[in-house]
Amino acid sequence: MMKTASTIEEVRSILKEKKGRSIALVPTMGYLHEGHMALVEAARQKGDIVVVSIFVNPLQFGPDEDLDSYPRDLERDLEICRAHGVDVVFHPAETEMYPKKPELLLTLETMASILDGVRRPGHFEGVVTVVNKLFNIIRPDHAVFGEKDRQQLMIIKRMAEDFNHDIEIIGVPTERESDGLAKSSRNVNLSDVEREEAPAINEALMMGRDLILDGVTDAASIKERIEAHIMDHTSGTIDDLQIFTHPDLNPVQTIEGNAIIFIAVKFEKTRLIDNVMVMKN
Ligand code: PAJ
Repeated sequence: MMKTASTIEEVRSILKEKKGRSIALVPTMGYLHEGHMALVEAARQKGDIVVVSIFVNPLQFGPDEDLDSYPRDLERDLEICRAHGVDVVFHPAETEMYPKKPELLLTLETMASILDGVRRPGHFEGVVTVVNKLFNIIRPDHAVFGEKDRQQLMIIKRMAEDFNHDIEIIGVPTERESDGLAKSSRNVNLSDVEREEAPAINEALMMGRDLILDGVTDAASIKERIEAHIMDHTSGTIDDLQIFTHPDLNPVQTIEGNAIIFIAVKFEKTRLIDNVMVMKN
């Protein structure tokens, strides 16, 4: 039987009964979809007890971002978790996670000086702060994150290292709709027309990847081709488009080794991100 807890005390007392079993945590902001469930499957492979946390973390949203319109449906989320054999769902209220305005916050150096670290000031500080709290509350042995938010995954891995969390951080490939669009809770905030256009994001990334694999090395011309595809096929605007080396995340002009193409596209109500890793070697 799946257990649910809305307070820290409750979840801790549930997990006290673990009797030597290992815990795998999947942190989420809810409105669950198959991307999240791919993480749950990976968690199941690693841990004896699968814990999903559901918490829309206000700290990681900027003042002009979509905190208020972020989709929420706890009952539906609990059903999905039950159907996927999740053992424990932790769904705290904001006052439970932040009973007072935090006095101490985590900050980032270079890993937040690119991409969403720049576009969304304070975002990754909010993410690492809440994930650090969740790690302390749940004390998992494994924690699972998606490659769709690749910068987040890399930052969490680094946080576990820098702060000596004895937790294995596991990355899971991006789950996509049949038309290639990366699954995201935010997809429901696309209009019907935007939803039809949105697969162009993945198409453009695939085109970029193919150009690199075909031997094109000039990052600027690849970005131009990607941009043109998005402009021609969607009503959205490109908020960010960058090519970095993998795994060091250095900006690259001439692509010689492995690379990652990152993109963020703004539609009327929502901003979608996606990325593709290109392995040349
Ligand atoms: P959320 O956007 O709900 O995502 C929760 C986890 O699911 C993240 O690790 C994310 O990368 C992963 N995920 C989302 N869509 C995916 C997809 N299509 N395929 C595979 N994985 C996918 O990311 C957050 O919440 C928050 O920042 C959080 C880490 C919970 C901290 O508040």
